[in-house]
Amino acid sequence: MSVFWEDATGILAVNVAMSAAAFLVTWSVIPKFRDMFLMAGFFGVDMNKRGKEKIPESAGVIAGAIFLCVMFLFIPVPFHRHLTYDGAGPFPHNVFVEFITALLSICCMIFLGFADDALDLRWRHKLMLPTLATLPLLMVYLTNFNSTVIIVPKPFRLYFGHDVDLQILYYVYMGMLAVFCTNAINILSGLNGYEVGQSLTIAASIIIFNLSELSGECRDAHLFSLYIMIPYAAVTLALFYHNWYPSRVFVGDTFCYFSGMTFAVVGILGHFSKTMLLLFIPQAVNFVYSVPQLFHLLPCPRHRMPRLLDSEDKLTVSVVAVKRRDISFLGRATLKLFSALGIANVTEGAGEDGAFMQFDNLTLINLLLSFIGPTHERTLVVYLLLLQVSCSCVAFFVRYPLARIFYDA
Ligand code: UD1
Ligand code: MG
Repeated sequence: MSVFWEDATGILAVNVAMSAAAFLVTWSVIPKFRDMFLMAGFFGVDMNKRGKEKIPESAGVIAGAIFLCVMFLFIPVPFHRHLTYDGAGPFPHNVFVEFITALLSICCMIFLGFADDALDLRWRHKLMLPTLATLPLLMVYLTNFNSTVIIVPKPFRLYFGHDVDLQILYYVYMGMLAVFCTNAINILSGLNGYEVGQSLTIAASIIIFNLSELSGECRDAHLFSLYIMIPYAAVTLALFYHNWYPSRVFVGDTFCYFSGMTFAVVGILGHFSKTMLLLFIPQAVNFVYSVPQLFHLLPCPRHRMPRLLDSEDKLTVSVVAVKRRDISFLGRATLKLFSALGIANVTEGAGEDGAFMQFDNLTLINLLLSFIGPTHERTLVVYLLLLQVSCSCVAFFVRYPLARIFYDA
């Protein structure tokens, strides 16, 4: 082990202390910015409340900024021996550049998210910009590791051999990972506390995974991840407090992009991108289920969140009604398939003249609601977060006991 990672416990203790301070600052500062956000026009209407109150939006930018400040202050800490002690050996420029690039990519995404909140960017920008923001990260991966070999699971070794070098495809995969992580949380949203709650669950799962791997071979990579994830979890927890039902602030796209990129960064530079993806099971299911609407096979309204049943103060499935002839053949076939599989309610001949087709917005939230019936917003978020926690348990099961069947672990 290099001198650099020798006093990891002390460095982790400093990281935890700084994160605790970051939590307190974020927690106390967010309410103070309320009027400033409202006056600047950064607010959204809480659509699932009777009052339709204006709520300050983009509070994620406060959490993101405090996270960046803490990381800037923390960066010298792991390098303190090299900065103060001559016998510490050559300065580990490679590790230093990893920290700097990680923060550069995260910073870019906070900027992009804030731009999205202010300008309502188009989908092509939302896909293109995270890809560009990952390029510095991929460059560092190329120069520091350039490991593009994957181990083939045992059942497939007969056909592909023990390992396969994916070369450029591995970089394409990592670029796509960043696009997926940043957008997947953003499209599984629209309920008080849900974006932050799911991010917090993923962060806690990554921290548990990193801690459990600290005695393993890739200790340095997991320490690197912890140094980023702990401050991230701290500012997110503070944001969660203010965003929980009934939300006093909305987190905005800024937070979704900030979170997604932070997860992608630690997954890529910590060499556990596949395990990290396993923690995104609900987001992946929601993405696949949403594909017909996202790629405009079916109409996609500006908001797909559930609808408020005013009389009961409960949320129910939101639907789209559209003239039958405006849906393409492929769109109608998709609806037929989803209806046959029992994963979407489709009504033919809707509307006064019977020319409309009505179907549920294709989101995991609506799917859950169609099974459990109208539910109060807070209860619904609790169910969804319990689902996220259960999926993390499944992910750990796949990563450990199940992986031993497929790999020589
Ligand atoms: C994504 C979803 C959209 C969903 C929206 C809600 C896709 C393709 N897009 O769009 O379906 O409706 O997120 O976040 O799936 N809001 C609430 N309560 C909340 C959180 C948000 O009412 O707890 C509303 C507020 O009006 C807020 C707005 O949602 O201003 C934020 O939406 P925005 O983040 O701009 O939507 P998108 O990310 O574009
Ligand atoms: Mg959003």
